[in-house]
Amino acid sequence: MRIEDPRLMTAFRELGVELRPGTSLADETSLGIGGTTDLLRIQKHDSIPGLLTLLDSNHIPHKFLGGGSNLLVGDGELPWVMLQLARPEPDVQIDGNIASVDAAADLGRTVTFCAKNDLGGMEGLIGVPGTVGGALRMNAGAYGMQIGSYVREVKLYRAAARRIETLHGEQISFEYRHTSFAPDDMMLSVKLELPSKPFREILQGIRICNEKRRSSQPLGQKSAGCIFKNPPGASAGRMIDELGLKGLSVGDARVSDRHANFFVNAGKASAKDMLALIASVRQRVHKAYGFDLENEVVVWTA
Ligand code: EPU
Repeated sequence: MRIEDPRLMTAFRELGVELRPGTSLADETSLGIGGTTDLLRIQKHDSIPGLLTLLDSNHIPHKFLGGGSNLLVGDGELPWVMLQLARPEPDVQIDGNIASVDAAADLGRTVTFCAKNDLGGMEGLIGVPGTVGGALRMNAGAYGMQIGSYVREVKLYRAAARRIETLHGEQISFEYRHTSFAPDDMMLSVKLELPSKPFREILQGIRICNEKRRSSQPLGQKSAGCIFKNPPGASAGRMIDELGLKGLSVGDARVSDRHANFFVNAGKASAKDMLALIASVRQRVHKAYGFDLENEVVVWTA
């Protein structure tokens, strides 16, 4: 979708919003898949209500893009514009056991920054690509921990109320890869309360998680992490592996040889290829095990 109305362009400038015309989502996502659209980069949180009112009154559909690391976007010209927060400097501030983090901050760098300030708890998330906002929305987790456990406060743009609000941790439910945020809520910043731990101890935990991840996941390849959620008490990766589906391909979309719940873009995979591979694996797992695997990856198709 292209924005060409000069009045809108002036309004964006006044709001401090940068228009990046014809952005390829293949360049903005870790899967390297996705069509093209205009991207609006937001410099100041306070401009969001005005920007969204402007888009709505001009009938311009939009979606919020975080780090693009858990996302499969459709091919071709996309029928919505993308909104993305610019990352402020600094993006993490520490006060005692509280880390105040901007949603656009990189998750891994945040874990390391907190560690250097002797704040631990998030070691498992090292190596999870993406932004803190994306991790928050999905309640990202690994190696027995999840980010939701540490959330004390979230500042967000509530689309339903059309305003910026602050929620306390107890007002939000964090479940396995699911939260009570509405799909159109936009995470802006978070206060995490983290346990004190000496840097060296945290570093040891980080090294262990890094090693586990390196030995079991295809880190150097284009992927969106795990494609399916684990069904209660079962492992999607193990089931797919047991069916002998590692290496199964549709075009350049391929079930990883290293971890069967990672589907990689081995070249120039399209969204159509990846969606066909997902459907094929889901159907085979259903036939063999009776489980209907639910997507863990977020899919945006027209
Ligand atoms: N397994 C296989 N074959 C495979 C993959 C896994 O047999 O190809 C077996 C493993 O040997 C293990 C079991 O399945 O016994 C579970 O595998 P793993 O420890 O790799 O964990 P997972 O359940 O597949 C989950 C998260 C990952 C997270 C890891 C580590 C989900 C969907 N996945 O994977 O998160 O990194 O645990 O805690 O919950 C993600 O969210 O994108 C993601 C990758």
